[in-house]
Amino acid sequence: MGNFDVAVIGGGMITYDLILPSLYHLQRTGIVGNIKVCALNSAPLKELKSSKEIREAFPGQDFIAYPPVTEPEENKFPELYKEVISGMKQRQIVVVAMPDQLHYPVVMEALKNNQHVLCVKPLVLKYEQAAEIEKIAYEKGLFVGVEYHKRFDRRSLMAKRSFELGQFGKFVMGEAKLIEPYYYRSSNFQNWFTCDKTDPFVYIGCHYVDLVYFITGLKPVEVSVSGVKGKFPNGNNAYMWAHGRVRFENDALLSVIDGLGYPDQAAGSNDQSLQMFFEGDGKTGMIKHNDQFRGVEHSYLEGIGCGGSHFNYVSPDFYKLVPWEGKGYKPIGYGYESVAASVTMAYHIENEVNEMPENESLAKRRAIIKEVDEKGIIATPANSYINELVVEAARISILSDGLPVSIEYGCNPHVSLR
Ligand SMILES: NC(=O)c1ccc[n+]([C@@H]2O[C@H](COP(=O)([O-])OP(=O)(O)OC[C@H]3O[C@@H](n4cnc5c(N)ncnc54)[C@H](O)[C@@H]3O)[C@@H](O)[C@H]2O)c1
Repeated sequence: MGNFDVAVIGGGMITYDLILPSLYHLQRTGIVGNIKVCALNSAPLKELKSSKEIREAFPGQDFIAYPPVTEPEENKFPELYKEVISGMKQRQIVVVAMPDQLHYPVVMEALKNNQHVLCVKPLVLKYEQAAEIEKIAYEKGLFVGVEYHKRFDRRSLMAKRSFELGQFGKFVMGEAKLIEPYYYRSSNFQNWFTCDKTDPFVYIGCHYVDLVYFITGLKPVEVSVSGVKGKFPNGNNAYMWAHGRVRFENDALLSVIDGLGYPDQAAGSNDQSLQMFFEGDGKTGMIKHNDQFRGVEHSYLEGIGCGGSHFNYVSPDFYKLVPWEGKGYKPIGYGYESVAASVTMAYHIENEVNEMPENESLAKRRAIIKEVDEKGIIATPANSYINELVVEAARISILSDGLPVSIEYGCNPHVSLR
């Protein structure tokens, strides 16, 4: 079978920092064919095309821009993604990389047009939408992966295995932290990261809630989140900081702090960690992950990044472009591996059913989707839906100044103020 085409909807920071370079590398390895990138206007597409870093890493590789980069930046095309998706061959892959509240309509549009999907986290902001996506995708035999890349971090995979082997004991108390850089406040976030839409817990705290679920299999049953507000440079109000507390089904507690405020001049480039305590028989167990300092320190002659810091903790583990035996540079790290896992899975599914009659093909595609759901490594709507419930509960809680919101499971999972 030949390689298959990708349309990325959204050309912002995550596309620049992770998705496009990962797709370019997969294009080199023969998995991905043509790449289209669609954004709201031409500005981010120009940035992607003119990036020195990306051009040097992937010489001779390019994408088709929607709208074209010659279009004046002030012209906006909020519905263009529909044309881009409907113009694709069937059962290729759509990567959804736009603001959180727009994931649902774009994922639905992709499924309507018979496309496999990779969506950045959080998949959607409501459990019912996640359940609807799961159902439609399964009926049509389409794969939906959610980009919870921390699941692919080797330390998470090691922790999961050790937990399953009973080496830690029963999870009882944990603390997680993810503070993104201050300069995020000057980015496009100003236009969508507003109090009514999202907050730091929903934006990044959900990574660690998913991770605790990934490691232990325990479901969250109660969430309370309080926020501290601030103003973006354009005057929009946002929760700049959030403090969440999550109770799990075995009564364990996880405290999560998040914010857009890690000092630009500091060595980070962010601050993130997870510590979990476990009860054993007459003893306790522990996991402690320092997630931004991976043991590598560089001090540069000239400052780098938006903050211009000279001394930096550089993590080789999430995503970096490094020399390799081929042309340019290649992406390494769990960010790349996570994107590659979903795209390769969709490709593998299509390879397995190549030339099968449609009824056999559909049965086979569904069987593989169920296997991926059950395996629980790649996040899918079926095995990561707890996150939608957590996000839904968190939004209610933060907007009501931290009141606890319960999550009920069973045949009709839902959230309600306690
Ligand atoms: N660690 C992570 O997993 C991680 C990190 C960053 C972002 N994200 C997620 O990625 C998503 C995007 O974040 P970002 O940082 O790239 O945001 P961003 O604001 O930098 O970019 C958003 C992009 O969406 C595009 N867009 C908006 N409306 C559109 C429309 N109608 N049609 C086509 N394009 C449209 C904009 O043009 C822009 O290019 C968010 O859901 C965020 O939560 C995840």
